[in-house]
Amino acid sequence: MSFEPSDKYTNSALRIGDTDTYPQRLVGEFVGTVVSNEWVNREYKHVILKVHPHALRAYAGQMFHLLCPSPDGAEVWMRRPMSVYRVDKTAGRIEFLYKPEGRGTRGMAKLEPGSEFNIAGPLGHGFKLEPNWKNIVVLGRGVGLATLAPLSQLAADHGVGVTAILSARNPDVLMSKEMFEELGAQIIAVFDSDNTSAVENVERIVEGLVAEGKADAFFTCGSNRLLKLMQRLGKKHNIPGQVAMEQIMVCGFGACYVCMRTFEVDGKRVLKRVCRDGPVFNMQEAVGW
Ligand SMILES: Cc1cc2nc3c(=O)[nH]c(=O)nc-3n(C[C@H](O)[C@H](O)[C@H](O)COP(=O)(O)OP(=O)(O)OC[C@H]3O[C@@H](n4cnc5c(N)ncnc54)[C@H](O)[C@@H]3O)c2cc1C
Ligand code: FES
Repeated sequence: MSFEPSDKYTNSALRIGDTDTYPQRLVGEFVGTVVSNEWVNREYKHVILKVHPHALRAYAGQMFHLLCPSPDGAEVWMRRPMSVYRVDKTAGRIEFLYKPEGRGTRGMAKLEPGSEFNIAGPLGHGFKLEPNWKNIVVLGRGVGLATLAPLSQLAADHGVGVTAILSARNPDVLMSKEMFEELGAQIIAVFDSDNTSAVENVERIVEGLVAEGKADAFFTCGSNRLLKLMQRLGKKHNIPGQVAMEQIMVCGFGACYVCMRTFEVDGKRVLKRVCRDGPVFNMQEAVGW
């Protein structure tokens, strides 16, 4: 581990090659090296980082808290939460798929290959698969597809079949299709541009999958409309589900309570921290937004 004082990072941040003096800790601060940071379409970028092996423990649905560089020289306050898009243990890499929008993500879009990027994590509770699930339905939209994409790897590792219904405004901004396909998922893409993404049509598709016995569990992220649909169909057919929630965060590890949201558990309204209790929750407990 490097102990030189740094004006940028704390001394506990692990760089590639550092000795891990506290290997049992679950969460860490890491300084990765940018391998590439390319546009995948007009709206989204894909950053690949080479990181210390300790960071590779992240699993589907967990997130890192990113110390984004400034896009304009002025300070960027607070880290930005971001789901892990892919963990490549063989290459020692972590990937994120993101939409440059505000100051943090626009700063991130400027990262060049070879530059350092500080990430803290892995944080939160991610997706879980039950041993009796043989086929799952994944339904996501927009940047939610980045969060859902690593489920394809998790499912492939457990021999679980995946049908991924990917929703986007139009084919140009559809994401994660290749990752789901590579790992053997059946893809159904729906778009606003031809109205196939309408809730009624998605409902017809999901009902078809339920009838075929291909829906032991539902997974969703990225759209309140789709969450409501999956909740309704989950209740109707008694199919369990998980949702990955997004919420504005400050600390990212449960200390500040900024990320509280309302959930309904056993008929009672309760507040939970998205960063620490989630970001993945029982779909039926999420109240939506
Ligand atoms: C669990 C989780 C996973 C996420 N995964 C991804 C991902 O894989 N790819 C991706 O592009 N984005 C993802 N996001 C959203 C991402 O964190 C926001 O795009 C980002 O915080 C916005 O930062 P900014 O610098 O672009 O915007 P700014 O406008 O500069 O952000 C200002 C403040 O608002 C917060 N904020 C703004 N929008 C959001 C949002 N949608 N969710 C949470 N906080 C927000 C920021 O943290 C910051 O504190 C995720 C968010 C959460 C909570
Ligand atoms: S962001 Fe601080 S408790 Fe969740």
